[in-house]
Amino acid sequence: MAFTVQDHYFRKAKKEHYLARAIYKLEEIQKRFKVLKPGDRVLDLGAAPGSWIQLASATVGGAGLVVGIDLKPIEHGFPKYVKTLQGDIFDQDFIEAALGDHVPFNAVISDMAPSTSGIKVADSARSALLFERALEVALWALVPGGCFLAKLFHGSDFHRLLAQVKQHFAQTKVVRPEATRKQSKEIYILAMNRKK
Ligand SMILES: C[S@@+](CC[C@H](N)C(=O)[O-])C[C@H]1O[C@@H](n2cnc3c(N)ncnc32)[C@H](O)[C@@H]1O
Repeated sequence: MAFTVQDHYFRKAKKEHYLARAIYKLEEIQKRFKVLKPGDRVLDLGAAPGSWIQLASATVGGAGLVVGIDLKPIEHGFPKYVKTLQGDIFDQDFIEAALGDHVPFNAVISDMAPSTSGIKVADSARSALLFERALEVALWALVPGGCFLAKLFHGSDFHRLLAQVKQHFAQTKVVRPEATRKQSKEIYILAMNRKK
């Protein structure tokens, strides 16, 4: 399991057989905003080890589809309507080959995070690049009315990226779930109802 510091959410995830404490961030967002619905087709970027896939697949059920992509292999065994793929989301040939048969999606969710250096400016710049790429993939893959949720380390790119998201979606929210570690700069931008 991909755990580091053993806090309350770490222990809870272990006890409840989830693959990562990150599940509680998506769970809170899902409870508040009903991002995913039964039957939805969901693309999960930066999906390893797979706790968001656990929640997404339980929510969409067998009438839906969940595709998870990560640089790392996703080794957990999921139901048949979950596809997991190993690759880099910046690799356009990989993205087109991997997703060509699965587009369009109702939701694109991204918990992608860069390897951190501890240098805040550098880490938030890397996070911004991942966020921007996730948005680019989402705009290619989403149905009109679809939604986009992505993690971002708060930094100097925040307002520019939020403005970019607002151009394409009717509603946006900035969310910092309870399960976020106190010292973390991460927030999630949730964008609903993709404009036509
Ligand atoms: C916080 S973890 C995701 C946890 C996951 N949501 C879960 O619930 O199990 C962030 C992931 O982003 C992935 N990632 C970072 N850069 C990526 C890239 N360029 N392409 C694909 N995945 C990437 C990392 O490999 C890492 O597994």
